Amino acid sequence: MNIISPSHPLRSEFRRKAPGSYDHSLGVAALSNAVALDLVESGFDVEIDPEIALGGGLIHDVGKMISPASYVENRGRLQECLGDEDVVSWDSLPVADRNQRAAEILAHPLDGFEIAEDYDLPDRVRECTRTHHGDGRAFESSDNGEEPRRYDGPKPGSLEEVIVMIADVVDAAVNRGRNGDAMKIDYVDLVDREVARKTDQFEHLNLPPELIEEMKKSFVKYAIFLYTDPDVLRIINL
Ligand SMILES: [Fe+2]
Ligand SMILES: [Fe+2]
Repeated sequence: MNIISPSHPLRSEFRRKAPGSYDHSLGVAALSNAVALDLVESGFDVEIDPEIALGGGLIHDVGKMISPASYVENRGRLQECLGDEDVVSWDSLPVADRNQRAAEILAHPLDGFEIAEDYDLPDRVRECTRTHHGDGRAFESSDNGEEPRRYDGPKPGSLEEVIVMIADVVDAAVNRGRNGDAMKIDYVDLVDREVARKTDQFEHLNLPPELIEEMKKSFVKYAIFLYTDPDVLRIINL
């Protein structure tokens, strides 16, 4: 069975064990697929498969099933402690289990990669799990001068993986910044900022600057579409 089928057993398990992460993954998948389709239509001379981007978005965070409660999206929207994604303040981790919690969070890309292998998913979809944070910063401390802790990588090796990486931080940033009115978000600014923060994770791929600009435009368009219309996910039937 293809992972894009809602009844795929991995998706059922993910939905059951980590419902908040699953919801976030639907957003990432919808954005990734739409942006990839736009880039195909734009006729750039690069290999890109929108279905890989869709599948990769759907499963990028399946590793969170291992310790779902370490992520705020699975513990109710009102309980603010850890951010959904990306750089987390070290000081916000509970002191009692700081190291263990950090280790669980840092492991989720590789955990997801192994889970996807157990389910025999195609390599190009599976890669989106372990590369979606690349070797980017995971935690930073405000007071002890320690080097920020980083994910283990590797960095994205394909355009689909880059798209999933950007969709991930766009969805997380929208969810963090949303106070009930997604219409008020400046999506151009948000996408600009998130792509700029991730550039060091994909510059080795030497993507043409025009393609990156097109990708940003496309992210803005579909983010507005996705986040300002609550019915969108239902309509696209993910
Ligand atoms: Fe993640
Ligand atoms: Fe994510």
